[in-house]
Amino acid sequence: MKHKKIGFIGQGWIGKHYADNFEERGYEVIRYDITTKYKNNKTKLKECDIVFIAVPTPTINQVFDDSILIDAIINTYKNQLVVIKSTIQIGITEKIQKLFKDRYIFHSPEFLRERNAKFDVDYPERSIVGYTKKSKNKSQQVLDVMPPAPIKSIVKSEVVGSNPVWFPSVIKRYCELLNSKSIDFVFNGIEFV
Ligand SMILES: NC(=O)c1ccc[n+]([C@@H]2O[C@H](COP(=O)([O-])OP(=O)(O)OC[C@H]3O[C@@H](n4cnc5c(N)ncnc54)[C@H](O)[C@@H]3O)[C@@H](O)[C@H]2O)c1
Repeated sequence: MKHKKIGFIGQGWIGKHYADNFEERGYEVIRYDITTKYKNNKTKLKECDIVFIAVPTPTINQVFDDSILIDAIINTYKNQLVVIKSTIQIGITEKIQKLFKDRYIFHSPEFLRERNAKFDVDYPERSIVGYTKKSKNKSQQVLDVMPPAPIKSIVKSEVVGSNPVWFPSVIKRYCELLNSKSIDFVFNGIEFV
């Protein structure tokens, strides 16, 4: 089967380590970043099947700012699978899907720690793909290219949210409610919440 071509917008901590990982696993990778040697690669993103977005999403005066994210996604193309790796709030994935109706938008929350960035990307503890109503049927294509992880899950983007701080506590709470030690059972259950 043909290997998918993977794009990365943003080559900071997250984007660089993911792009390196995909290259090491044999994928052809296109890197684009406004402030680096990759700044001339914008139009090459058109060749990609899946584009990961890893740009800053600052909170300014206690207001979440998704403007950089939207500026970045403008550089993706019709029918592409666009996976937001940046930290975002609940509801932003569906909001962006409405802005970019001809693309398939996902959110995959990141648990990387800067001091262990390469290790955390190469050996993730979990891989989560959050889908929108439009992108749901293509979720497996995203999960299939992600670095292998012992826990893999496809869930609604509203469930992913996504602050890595609260997500594990949601899982823990479900385990408590269900009196279950099975994380897979809990993840499957979340999809119907
Ligand atoms: N670093 C971490 O440990 C970590 C962990 C979890 C989540 N995150 C989240 O991931 C996102 C990215 O974090 P990071 O640490 O990689 O940031 P970073 O600042 O290291 O890198 C961001 C990169 O995006 C580029 N960029 C900005 N606007 C752009 C645009 N419009 N088009 C193309 N490139 C653009 C910048 O030049 C920069 O190289 C943020 O939302 C952050 O909150 C980071």
